[in-house]
Amino acid sequence: MKWSPSSNRAQGDVSRVEAPVTLRGYLLCVFAAFGGILFGYDSGYISGVLAMDYFKQEFGHPGSKDPSAYKGYLYDTWQKSLITSILSCGTFFGALAAGSLADWIGRRTTIILGCWVFSAGVVLQVASTTVAMLVPGRLIAGVGVGFVSAIIILYMSEVAPKAVRGAIVSGYQFFITIGLLLASVVDQGTHSRMNTGSYRIPMSIQWVWALVLGTGLFLLPESPRYHVKNDNLDKAAEALSILRGQPKDSEFIKDELAELVANYRYELENMHTSWLDCFSGGWKPSGNLRRVILGIAMQMMQQWTGVNFIFYYGTTFFQQVGLKNAFVVSMITTAVNVGSTPISFWTVEKLGRRPLLIWGAVGMLICEFIIAIVGTADSGSNAANYCLIIFTCFYIFFFASTWGPAAWVVIGEIFPLPIRAKGVAMSTASNWFWNFVIGYVTPYMVDADQGNLRAKVFFVWGATCTACVVFAYFLVPETKGLSLEQVDRMLEETTARTSAAWVPHDTFADQDTRNQVEKAAAVGGAEHHEEKV
Ligand code: BGC
Repeated sequence: MKWSPSSNRAQGDVSRVEAPVTLRGYLLCVFAAFGGILFGYDSGYISGVLAMDYFKQEFGHPGSKDPSAYKGYLYDTWQKSLITSILSCGTFFGALAAGSLADWIGRRTTIILGCWVFSAGVVLQVASTTVAMLVPGRLIAGVGVGFVSAIIILYMSEVAPKAVRGAIVSGYQFFITIGLLLASVVDQGTHSRMNTGSYRIPMSIQWVWALVLGTGLFLLPESPRYHVKNDNLDKAAEALSILRGQPKDSEFIKDELAELVANYRYELENMHTSWLDCFSGGWKPSGNLRRVILGIAMQMMQQWTGVNFIFYYGTTFFQQVGLKNAFVVSMITTAVNVGSTPISFWTVEKLGRRPLLIWGAVGMLICEFIIAIVGTADSGSNAANYCLIIFTCFYIFFFASTWGPAAWVVIGEIFPLPIRAKGVAMSTASNWFWNFVIGYVTPYMVDADQGNLRAKVFFVWGATCTACVVFAYFLVPETKGLSLEQVDRMLEETTARTSAAWVPHDTFADQDTRNQVEKAAAVGGAEHHEEKV
């Protein structure tokens, strides 16, 4: 059964390097996206748990005057920040370490290892009754999520057929959103229990996702590009044949493999694979340094959209501004997040990455400024609260259908194979770094006894989102419809703003063959010349 890709960049003969997408091949890639659940659930469940009465009583201390305290019981602002953001600290280091691991032990094995580390962190969390034990549990689980979140993107980008690569990586984002929604539903279901089940149930459920992902990955092949990198061409052909649903010796598999090998050779002529090489090449669009900065900035900007303010602190923020059903509103925002993400499966291939990022940020900043202005002018009124709920939903809609998926899609595509694992790892680490910074700083901006910004905090997010528009317009190249190898070529020959019009005109395999023929001719010519002499 064939699945017809929607995206087409006129390619003529050069498009023959990949087999048509089969449903089976498609499903194999989609399974990896399941890892997103781990990411989403893990970062999402904490928002609701922090707002639970039993949790406040068990982990907090008496005497708080904050309106959100339970019978005077609450944890300190620094504890709330730490519990939330320590996960991102673990994921930051996990993602970086995974960049090396994925090149040593393979992409798939690194993800499976991540599931084990994550499980150890979950055990600590479930066993905890104090902040002192919960924090290390979140830290260790974070390291595992770091492995998984960085390497899944790498793995998916490397195994997916190019025509649906954007859609498949968006599938990862879709699972992130499902993870967030499930966390919110579970929190909603247990928040009124006045026993340890209130927080232990949401915490234990994290483990189920690790189990499914870790077990399922045993059935998937390793990335063919990892095998190419290790000069294991037979295994690379085997992996490709499973992924593309074609016999190992078919022309499609031979052509695609030839292209991977030729591109890798070409890249290796100009660079090596160490961490230092990630920073070579200067500011030219195809230079490694430029690509690494692009990846890191891309994920930083994704966090600067401010989306995690809603997902991490939404429940407590809504309580603070006086919304009666804070838990329900928070669940609605996560549902909008899930519902809007699939739009990107189509748009990311049809419209491309650039328009999504530019217009998505424009949509978000408009919503943010509206919330900020109305909330400040008419603070505490019904109108301001309705405005908050409605425009938060629009804002999440714009994020979910654009920056949510597209930021991951782009970082999977912009790095050349020799440094791809490390480049994706650094970009993912940047996501988690900014996740951490924003997670840590936000309570100080909005808590009643701290900055008490209330709706004004949306002025901050509106401003940072404006920076996202500028960034996307000037720096993000269009990568839709190209193989990862063609992206390399495109970056060499265009700038971000002219990239969308670029059309592939040559393959690395053709060039490699031409080079060899020329070399042979030169050698032949020289020998002929010597003979004559
Ligand atoms: C972001 C997360 C965010 C999630 C929301 C992801 O792409 O990286 O930080 O919580 O989207 O859906």
